[in-house]
Amino acid sequence: MASAAMQETTLSARRGALSSEDDDGRDDSKTKKPSRLTMDILAHLRRFSISAPCLAVALPLLLVFIIAVAVLSRSRPHAEILVTPLDSLPLVPLLPGNGLEGLAPNFGSLGVPLCRSKHGKMVEWTSKDLLKGLEEFVPVYETRPIKNNIYGMGFDHSFGLWFMARWLKPDLMIESGAFKGHSTWVLRQAMPETRIISLSPRHPEKYLRKGPAYVDANCTYFAGKDFVDFGSVDWVSVLKKHGVADPSRVLAFFDDHQNELKRVKQALKAGFRNLIFEDNYDTGTGDHYSLRQICDQTYITGGGHSCFKDSDEAKIRLKRKKFWKKAVDIDDLCGAGEAWWGVKGYMRDNFNHSNKQISDDEHVQNGRFIESVLDLYWELPPVAGPSLTHQTRYDPARSTDPIIEDGKFGLFQRLGLTRFETAVFNGYTQMVFLRVSVSTIS
Ligand SMILES: C[S@@+](CC[C@H](N)C(=O)[O-])C[C@H]1O[C@@H](n2cnc3c(N)ncnc32)[C@H](O)[C@@H]1O
Repeated sequence: MASAAMQETTLSARRGALSSEDDDGRDDSKTKKPSRLTMDILAHLRRFSISAPCLAVALPLLLVFIIAVAVLSRSRPHAEILVTPLDSLPLVPLLPGNGLEGLAPNFGSLGVPLCRSKHGKMVEWTSKDLLKGLEEFVPVYETRPIKNNIYGMGFDHSFGLWFMARWLKPDLMIESGAFKGHSTWVLRQAMPETRIISLSPRHPEKYLRKGPAYVDANCTYFAGKDFVDFGSVDWVSVLKKHGVADPSRVLAFFDDHQNELKRVKQALKAGFRNLIFEDNYDTGTGDHYSLRQICDQTYITGGGHSCFKDSDEAKIRLKRKKFWKKAVDIDDLCGAGEAWWGVKGYMRDNFNHSNKQISDDEHVQNGRFIESVLDLYWELPPVAGPSLTHQTRYDPARSTDPIIEDGKFGLFQRLGLTRFETAVFNGYTQMVFLRVSVSTIS
């Protein structure tokens, strides 16, 4: 209880002028509308790409681009552990001479530092399974009770959570960070009969007074006055109480903006093996130390950064920042002493209410520790390319290929995705699935 009071106090302090009811656990990386400027540029790109005088120049280039994307996506299926060397993909300008060169999506062109698992295992599901899942999920998502889940999950991560929960079929689902209950609802759609345990400082029922929220009948809430942080729960007795004998059959989902290194250690202690982190922030961004940040290491292909202002990376980043709202340039990325890891050399925790400067050595050790417990690491791809979703927030240059590639409008439309407003596609932050275990010495 004392812990609950403390959590609520820290959250209140962050709320500022906004209403406390509306701003609990707000996460600015989520479903905000694109800025006027980016919408203008996007519209310009779309208009420009079909104007007749440019077609002669644009079409051959576009053809090269489409072939490159097709070849690359065939050689890099979603189900694999992917490594993308910096600049291994050409930066294909969308159109020459329009001042907007280098802004094409170019998925992965700035490197995607994916964590290495112990034995190089891959997830069982394939790109085909994801597409089939999307087809089933669209009508489910249309029935969501909280239509405007600003500061909570949007479409991409809702789909990812639903897909993985359905695939893994756990005996129990734990959710840390409920907000108004949207993710609880998603878990319930995936597994209609399975018990949920939800931990959140503010009970979702509190939001019902002001508008749509979701409270689940088959869920044990450690919320409001009963809130206990995930790391302080006596999981042995909670699991026993719920008749769960095997902790490895539990799925733990975290959307609580806590240091993910801390959460992985706590989950391992409890014997949980299947973990999903909603906000797997990229290096230089976000309010907590994430798996993506931990694995961004110079010894990993696609990882590590140069703080040299004249480097290719610096030039590309500067350009991309003008278009993709969440892109970071070298100034955003690098702190004192050229510290680029975490966020400018800091390991953030608890909505950035606390942070700690860490050395490069410590960061490397953290990476080694994660690798030593990882059986699987899989980042959910974005649902579709930005020409389809019109999202302008996350930079595709730091992401794996989308499930539906740019240009496949027919498929996007057939799946019913055109029915959703752009804002639901703006919250992608590389949701990640981990399977972990403590290594036994044989
Ligand atoms: C981004 S919101 C969660 C959004 C929700 N999963 C959804 O999709 O709608 C983060 C939530 O974490 C809660 N939170 C803060 N500290 C927490 C902690 N230590 N443990 C669990 N939840 C916490 C916040 O109160 C807030 O409700």
